[in-house]
Amino acid sequence: MAFDTESIQAELDGRNVLWLEETDSTMRDASRLAEFNCPSGTVVGAERQTAGQGRLGRSWHSAADGLYFSIVLRLDLPSAQLPLVTMTAGLAAAEAIRQFCGAPVDLRWPNDGMIGHRKLFGILVQLDNNALICGIGVNVNQSAFPEDIAALATSLRIVTGKEHSREHLFVVILAALDEHLAILKSQGPSAILSLFTQASSYVNGRRVVVDQGARELRGTTEGLDESGFLRLRLDNGSVTTILAGGVRPA
Ligand code: BTN
Repeated sequence: MAFDTESIQAELDGRNVLWLEETDSTMRDASRLAEFNCPSGTVVGAERQTAGQGRLGRSWHSAADGLYFSIVLRLDLPSAQLPLVTMTAGLAAAEAIRQFCGAPVDLRWPNDGMIGHRKLFGILVQLDNNALICGIGVNVNQSAFPEDIAALATSLRIVTGKEHSREHLFVVILAALDEHLAILKSQGPSAILSLFTQASSYVNGRRVVVDQGARELRGTTEGLDESGFLRLRLDNGSVTTILAGGVRPA
């Protein structure tokens, strides 16, 4: 069923929401809206994306039945806190999904919502046209995935055995995002780092492989530093800070 923005008008509280049948990527659409000075909080979503973007230059599978949207945020935050917005959005999406249907979402640093070893949602935050563009992709009602990602992805439908209202989930995620951004603003990074640490089984004591393209690191996670980067104790005993990379269980 097509996404019904009419049915959630009252809950959107005057927020600008644009929903497209198909687009290349809502990241590009949101960036264009930011260029024309749209208000903070403006959302652009799509039923399907033909060039959905993931982190680290990867693509994001965006066939029908998922929830794909980007929000334009103009936040009055010091630039050192910007990477924390990714974690804040992940926390918000995880908390919203738990409330919405009880699915036991784990957070894999820095931006993945996981159910066991399979990915349920991803977050991509980019700085563009003087705004932060926060993209969220959630697998909601897909009953299967293409062969190349079938072992890596899951959906709420697969996890819970039933279909869910994407409109309702969208409203719950937006509310949770507002709430968590307010925590970042009022209590600062340490509050978000502590919530992320509690919500993620990956932050402490987890044997992982970090894929950094040119090299792979193996070790055991040892918490987050004050900027939100992941500390990894390598197998030779030294501790390194992971600024970027794909983390997976060893
Ligand atoms: C990742 O896990 O690598 C991030 C995935 C982010 C996907 C979302 S879907 C909505 C928005 N539009 C995009 O092209 N990407 C983000």
